[in-house]
Amino acid sequence: MFLLLILYTEFWGKIAKEFYWKTPYTGNFMDYNFDLTRAKIYIRCMQGATTNMCYNVLDRNVNEKKLGDKIAFYWEGNKPEDYARITYKELLQQVCKFANVLRAQGIKKGDHVAIYMPMIIELIVAMLACARVGAVHSIVFAGFSAEALSERILDCSCSLLITADGFYRGDKFIKLKEITDEALKLHGENPVKKCIVVKHLKATKENDKTSTQSNLPPAKRACLKLQIPWNEEVDVWWHEVMKEAGEECEPEWCSAEDPLFILYTSGSTGKPKGVKHTIGGYLLYTATTFKYVFDYQPSDVYWCTADVGWITGHSYLTYGPLANGATSVLFEGVPTYPDVSRFWEIIDKYLVTKFYTAPTAIRLLMKYGDEPVKRFSRKSLKILGTVGEPINPEAWLWYYNVVGDRRCPIMDTYWQTETGGHMLTPLPAVTPLKPGSATLPFFSVVPAILSESGEELEGEAEGYLVFKKPWPSIMREVYGSYERFESSYFKRFPGYFVTGDGCKRDKDGYYWITGRIDDMLNISGHLLSTAEVESAIMEHLAVAEVAAVSHPHPVKGESLYCFVTLKDGHEFTDELVTELKNQVRKKIGPIAAPDYIQIAAQLPKTRSGKIMRRLLRKIARNERDLGNTSTLADESVLEALFKNRVETI
Ligand code: WTA
Repeated sequence: MFLLLILYTEFWGKIAKEFYWKTPYTGNFMDYNFDLTRAKIYIRCMQGATTNMCYNVLDRNVNEKKLGDKIAFYWEGNKPEDYARITYKELLQQVCKFANVLRAQGIKKGDHVAIYMPMIIELIVAMLACARVGAVHSIVFAGFSAEALSERILDCSCSLLITADGFYRGDKFIKLKEITDEALKLHGENPVKKCIVVKHLKATKENDKTSTQSNLPPAKRACLKLQIPWNEEVDVWWHEVMKEAGEECEPEWCSAEDPLFILYTSGSTGKPKGVKHTIGGYLLYTATTFKYVFDYQPSDVYWCTADVGWITGHSYLTYGPLANGATSVLFEGVPTYPDVSRFWEIIDKYLVTKFYTAPTAIRLLMKYGDEPVKRFSRKSLKILGTVGEPINPEAWLWYYNVVGDRRCPIMDTYWQTETGGHMLTPLPAVTPLKPGSATLPFFSVVPAILSESGEELEGEAEGYLVFKKPWPSIMREVYGSYERFESSYFKRFPGYFVTGDGCKRDKDGYYWITGRIDDMLNISGHLLSTAEVESAIMEHLAVAEVAAVSHPHPVKGESLYCFVTLKDGHEFTDELVTELKNQVRKKIGPIAAPDYIQIAAQLPKTRSGKIMRRLLRKIARNERDLGNTSTLADESVLEALFKNRVETI
């Protein structure tokens, strides 16, 4: 045990030396307690060290590594004819300017800044500028609704919001500024004092007398240009504040344990959890996993298709690659626009060497066959990666055989918002692969599989996946509720970090994730809780009771199937189904909209009144073998539920 601790400290200590610390850490590399029954849970990494994330990923690369002229990002817009590039030096310059803007707006170390933006270079600039001044960014995925944005802004009291006029994803037009304004109006008092708006679609202010368009009739104006609502007291244009900003900006020296960002993830009790990550450990871990898992080489062109609004976009599109001085592609669009070859076209356009995407995208593209892939050479590709949900062997094999021409190993990386970086993953040319398995733990990760009663299972086994020791980028708290942090991850099995995933270990010691074991589901790689969706539906006047369960989906992995009981006097109609789906879209966002909604005169409940979701899952799948139903209060409800099933794909 002692030897393990020395190795651990030596391993990470050596890596830490590659980065810049204004003052080094004193004492242990890592201090922690995972056992709730002994004391409060805590994790501290490199205490005493001071540093700055932005300095490490930009200034260090430009000044020490002489990478100033290297391309940091190739930006590929929604349409193939929109593209741009930015070097490390230019990125540093933009970030310094925007960091000065933040300071001029009164943003100081520790302040919270909300970012609600499309996949554009300004998004990266905004994040890194926050990191430079020691502010904590809270990025909200631009596909989320006004309600979801408002909830996140309020939860962590953001005083500044950065957004854009609007954007296209495929042929879908998203009026981002309008949604932003709706969010700010939702709950009366809101903490946002200023809103900085990027002019991405050349929008003009509504009612702007200086705009030449205001002379045109409204219908004509709308099709010419986007007009956005504007509040002179709150809103400022990005380009206007940037014009006046200076290029020199001293970074704020922060403690290694100061927060870097908060990112919300679904929690099984409904309300999203603000996962807080800190600077030092997160820097080391994302940089190191990126380097080894993708066998990073300086000549690489790396492309991670994830949106920055999710953890993958934070760790493996922004911080990990930049910490290594890598060149990445930042893509605004979708895999099917203008056609289903877009991914492969981009790979050939930039000669991408390492490509990281999600099983849902692979399954979606697989449906169109091999021809759209084979139209492009993809010769530059060396390594392929996947993340977000279990990848079924069929999709794995297609990815390997067709996309990678059987030349490129597939890195199936298992991790979570909470873990900050890869936990179970192969290493290229090191780990023999098995389709569907995330294989083995990364350096210094110690997994275990526990039985229902909390015993560690050895050898071939199936049970709860937990981690026994901390790694540098483990989350530090759930923002605003330490109690929720402890109860979500450390209570069920004291002494372990509990992932919430089920897992099998085979005879070779390989890990296979079997899916969530709580009331969570994974739609297209995005975690959602059934409780969150249920509470959105419950807000509809006609609904008396609702239960949502996960249902398998050939492309999305999982989809939502809901059972609703209506209040007296309401009728179950197609319009109502549409209204309920829209209600979820509005409260959470389009990704959460249920695929199926059926009427339930009554829900199956235990005698103590608990809804038996296990039975509902079987009914949704039309599986008549329901197993033991003896705890059910009234068996007669089942027949009606089967009768009213909705046909599923
Ligand atoms: C699931 C995404 C199987 C898992 C990085 C986890 C996976 C949840 C994999 C976290 C994988 C992620 N194989 N399952 N390679 N990667 N998951 O927080 O259920 O959005 O707990 O982080 O996605 O989702 P999150």
